[in-house]
Amino acid sequence: MTTTRTRITAVTNQKGGVGKTATTIGVAGALAEAGSNVLVVDLDPQGHLTDGLKVPQAPSGPGAANIYRALVGEHTGLDGLLVRHSEPAGALDVVPNAFEMFMAVRDVDKVKAREQRLAKLLVHTRGLYDHVLIDPPPSLDILTDNALTAADGVLIPVEAEDSSLKALELLLPQVASVDADLRVKPLELHGLVVSRLRRPVNTLARSVLDEFGKLDGLPVLATVPLSVVVTEAWRYGRTPVDYAPESEHAQAYRTLAGVLEAAR
Ligand SMILES: Nc1ncnc2c1ncn2[C@@H]1O[C@H](COP(=O)(O)OP(=O)(O)OP(=O)(O)O)[C@@H](O)[C@H]1O
Ligand SMILES: [Mg+2]
Repeated sequence: MTTTRTRITAVTNQKGGVGKTATTIGVAGALAEAGSNVLVVDLDPQGHLTDGLKVPQAPSGPGAANIYRALVGEHTGLDGLLVRHSEPAGALDVVPNAFEMFMAVRDVDKVKAREQRLAKLLVHTRGLYDHVLIDPPPSLDILTDNALTAADGVLIPVEAEDSSLKALELLLPQVASVDADLRVKPLELHGLVVSRLRRPVNTLARSVLDEFGKLDGLPVLATVPLSVVVTEAWRYGRTPVDYAPESEHAQAYRTLAGVLEAAR
């Protein structure tokens, strides 16, 4: 591989079920289709990214090479952590979940430089991958802090619901506090990805979309309708771009890939 610049993006929102994992898979597929070498990191102990791409979980236990052992400082570097998913044009690799990741929130909290553990690991991706996408859990915990510390920029999946507007009131101050306390350069907030949009768009959803449109410095980058394209691709471990290349979904993910590629 001949990459020189690596762009790290956290796909984050502490609100659950808003499309973080689906966005990670979709954008990763679109980037790889366009020729980028892409790594996706399953930072959620639920392991949905690993499931959605149908790659095997990493082994657990003392001495195992997995994301948990890397975060707590018992494994160094990327050796043994990477699984190849596919090579549509560029390569799409995964750092999969391991069962013992459920202990990470408790244990990463106890290690030195606890918010910088993932950044330290991802230093090893520099020059190997064009893009690294991180899929954190739905909480403002130490794992999400690690994602926000390691990333260059953030994509924020939201739904067209009042609860998503409310969620931003928690997320944005958290990003600001990580910027203030843990980062040299502020995180780049790329913008919102409206996910799982039910059609026809009802009046309530329309009013939330209008509110999103008024948020300063947080553009709506793409809209991804609710559709079986996403769930079917997930079922078969494929990315929507590969599974349904002509779909509106594939197009939305390509748009987002373009945003990240322009930022690299
Ligand atoms: N555009 C879509 N159309 C249909 N189903 C979707 C779409 N986007 C996501 N889903 C499905 O909705 C569910 C929630 O999406 P996803 O897992 O991506 O959200 P999440 O924010 O990562 O959730 P969590 O907070 O649990 O990590 C999943 O079952 C996913 O397959
Ligand atoms: Mg998820």
